[in-house]
Amino acid sequence: MCGIVGYVGARPALDVVVEGLARLEYRGYDSAGVAMLADGALATAKRAGKLVNLREALAEEPLPAGTLGMGHTRWATHGAPNDRNAHPHTDCAGRVAVIHNGIIENFAALRTELEEGGHKLRSDTDTEAVAHLLEDELKTTGDLAEAMRRVCRRLEGAFTLVAMHAGDDDLVVGARRNSPLVVGVGDGENFLASDVAAFIAHTRDAIELGQDQVVELRRSGVTVTDFHGRPAETKAYHVDWDVSAAEKGGYDYFMLKEIAEQPRAVADTLLGRIGADGRLTLDEMRISDQELREVDKIIIVACGTSYHAGLIAKYAIEHWAGLPCEVELASEFRYRDPILSRSTLVIAISQSGETMDALMAVRHAREQHAKLLGICNVNGSTLPRECDGVLYTHAGPEIAVASTKAFLTQLVAVYLIALYIAQVRGTKFGDEVFAMIQLLAKMPEKVDEVLGTMEPVRALARSLADEKSVLFLGRHVGFPVALEGALKLKELAYMHAEGFAAGELKHGPIALIEPGLPVIVVVPPRSRAVLHDKIVSNIQEIRARGARTIVIAEEGDTSVEPYADTLIRVPAVPTLFQPLVTTVPLQVFACELATAKGHDVDQPRNLAKSVTVE
Ligand code: F6R
Repeated sequence: MCGIVGYVGARPALDVVVEGLARLEYRGYDSAGVAMLADGALATAKRAGKLVNLREALAEEPLPAGTLGMGHTRWATHGAPNDRNAHPHTDCAGRVAVIHNGIIENFAALRTELEEGGHKLRSDTDTEAVAHLLEDELKTTGDLAEAMRRVCRRLEGAFTLVAMHAGDDDLVVGARRNSPLVVGVGDGENFLASDVAAFIAHTRDAIELGQDQVVELRRSGVTVTDFHGRPAETKAYHVDWDVSAAEKGGYDYFMLKEIAEQPRAVADTLLGRIGADGRLTLDEMRISDQELREVDKIIIVACGTSYHAGLIAKYAIEHWAGLPCEVELASEFRYRDPILSRSTLVIAISQSGETMDALMAVRHAREQHAKLLGICNVNGSTLPRECDGVLYTHAGPEIAVASTKAFLTQLVAVYLIALYIAQVRGTKFGDEVFAMIQLLAKMPEKVDEVLGTMEPVRALARSLADEKSVLFLGRHVGFPVALEGALKLKELAYMHAEGFAAGELKHGPIALIEPGLPVIVVVPPRSRAVLHDKIVSNIQEIRARGARTIVIAEEGDTSVEPYADTLIRVPAVPTLFQPLVTTVPLQVFACELATAKGHDVDQPRNLAKSVTVE
C-alpha cells in the first residue's frame, strides 16, 4: 500500500522520482505527489487519481529543477483520496515535507496536541502530524535525522516515512517500522523506495533495512541507526533481475506478460532444488531434518490468492507428508486461540512478504514458539526475515495487482515442501518421491501447452462480458482453484463471482442457479474415479436447472462432453498438480473479460498490490 521513492544525487530528481513512482503505482493509485528541493526551497505538487494526473499537472506547472526529491503514490487509509490528502504533507512553514506508508495509530492524540500547540493542520491524514512533529523537533535539534528518530519514538502503528528539509539540500531521511523500505546504493547518488523496482534502472545494489531503523541518505553515502541513534546492522544484497523484468515487454498489460511468463516462473522455482540423485535439497529451509521429524502439525497462514495456494498445500501435505494440516486466513489467525506448540510448523505464504495480516500471524505464531517457514517471492522483504526458514519462489517481479505467476510458483513451493517433508520423515518411499519430482519437473511444459490453447477461452470471456454473475465449482484441489477463479473475476471484472465446493452446492448455493447462468466447473482427473464421477453428476444437476456449463477437463475425458456447453481442455497431469494447469484458463478468462469491459487489469479499482495495513 502506497509507493515511496526518495532520491539524492546529480540527476534531475523529478525525472528519477516520477519514473520510480511509475514502477510503484501497483502499490496504490488513489493519488500521487512529489516534493523537490531547489535553491533552499521546497516545492510540492500532488493530484488525486493515477500518476497520469500528476504528470499532467507537472507539465502545466513545472516544479523548480533540483537534484534531491521524493514522491508518493497513495492507497488511501485516513482521509478521502483527493488533492488535499495526497502526499507529501508539509509543516506550517512549508520547510519540511513528509511521505508515509502505513497507519499511525495514535495520530488523533498527536493531532490534538499539535493543534493545541498552535499548528495548523490542513489535511485529514495521519501523516501530516509527522510533518508538524518534525517541525517542532527541528527547532531544538536542527538535524532532520535526529528529529525523525525522536518523532518515531512517539509513533504507534506501522510506518515507512521519508522526509526532506529545506535547510539541507544533501539529505533525505527515511524511517521504517513494519512497512517496507529499501535503499538503492549508487555512485554519487542514493535511492530510497518501497520496492527495488523503483530504482532498478539505476542500480541493482540494495540495502535491506531492519525494523525501527532510520536512514540518512546523502550523495556521499548512507548511514543507518536505530530509533535511538545507535549504529544499526543492515544487509546489503544484489538484485538478481534487471529493469526489463519490471517492464511490459510489448504486452498491453503486465498481467498478460505475467500470465505468459508462468512456464518460466515454474521452471525457475524448481531450479537447483532437485539433486542429480533425484533427492530434493531445500537449502534455505534453515529448519533441520531432525526438527522436521519432530513436527506434529502444520498450520498455513496466508491471504487472498496466497491463501488459495495454502488450501492446495493442505491436500499435498496430508497426502505425501502424512501430517495434519490446517489452513487459516492470516487476518483471522491471531484473533482466535490457535493451539500451537514447539512441534507445530507454521508456513506463511506471501508473494510480497509485506502483507501485514501475514506478518502479524507470523509474530503471533512466534510468540507461541512454533517453527516458522515462509514462502515468499520478494528478496529483502520482511516476512522471510521473521521466519526460521524461507523457500523463495522465483516468479520475478509481479507488477500486476492480481496475482498470477506468483500463485503458480507458490504451488510449486508447497509441492516441494510437502515432498521434502515426505522424504525426511519417510512417509513416502524414496522412489515414490522421485517419481513425483520427475512429474513436477514436466509441469512447465504442461503450463506452456495450456497457454497455447487459450484463444477459445478469450472468445468465451468476451461473449460473457455482460453477464451479472459467474459461479465456479470444484472438488478436492479443484475447490481452491474455483475460489481462485472467482477471486480473479471479482477483482478484475468487478462482477459477482463465487467459488464453491461442488458437493456443497446442494446444501444451498444451488438455489442461485437460473437459466443461462454461466457456471465454470473444474473436473478432477479420471484417475480419481469417485471424485470425477461425482462432479459429472453435479454438472448434470446444474444443467438440469438451466445453467450454462463451462467445463474444464483433462484431454481424453469424453464423459463430460454431453453435459458441457463449452469444454476447455487441459493436459492430463497428476491430481495434486492439476491446479497448475486448471488455474491458467481462469486467469486468462478473468483478464480477457475485464479487458472487454474496459477495465485496467493491472490496476483494478480499490486494490493495492501490497497490503501493508491490517
Ligand atoms: C489477488 C491478490 C491478493 C493477494 C493477497 C496476499 O489476486 O493478489 O489476494 O494474494 O493480498 O498478498 P501476498 O501474497 O503478497 O501476501
